[in-house]
Amino acid sequence: MKSLALGILGSGKGSNFVAIQESILAGKLNAEIKIVLSDKADAPILEKARAYGLRAEVLPKSRFKSRLEPELEMQLVAMLREAKVEWVVLAGYMRIVKTPLLEAYADRIINIHPSLLPKFPGLEAWKQALAAGEKVTGCTVHYVNAGIDEGAMIAQREVAILPGDTAEILHARIQEAEHQLLPEVLQKFASQS
Ligand code: GRF
Repeated sequence: MKSLALGILGSGKGSNFVAIQESILAGKLNAEIKIVLSDKADAPILEKARAYGLRAEVLPKSRFKSRLEPELEMQLVAMLREAKVEWVVLAGYMRIVKTPLLEAYADRIINIHPSLLPKFPGLEAWKQALAAGEKVTGCTVHYVNAGIDEGAMIAQREVAILPGDTAEILHARIQEAEHQLLPEVLQKFASQS
């Protein structure tokens, strides 16, 4: 069994990154986080990564909000390669991934999404599930392709929506499920490598 060489991309608080790193430290996940990258200089994920003594870097500033221009995405690929990353994990990375990264890491980029895809792709999926009156939602780990939350599904976990749930309460419950599912999926990859 080979240790997975991971690169984590995130734009936010980094709780999924912490779940992965804690699983590694607990000996439950045979992997190593080679680098954590964020498009936001002040994203807590970077601070958290540095607190673990991990390499954490900011991506060059983009002109766009929802994607990186190709030359910047090529720089991102160069950073991942230089750090010897084999698998890319999108953990709250809020930009659409384009060709340079998709081609460089074909079938080696995964994302965690807070709904039972194909239901509720896009932003704030837990709010979409609440508004639709669902009784069950969940989270999905899937491969990343050029679409938004559209790549082939790898695993899902259901989460109940309870009477009286607010968006915050439901999101927190979904995140608990995410923190279990994502390391489990990665360990499955590790055990097959
Ligand atoms: C998660 O809810 C994930 O499903 C979505 O972005 C959020 C990231 O949270 N893609 P965190 O930064 O890992 O805490």
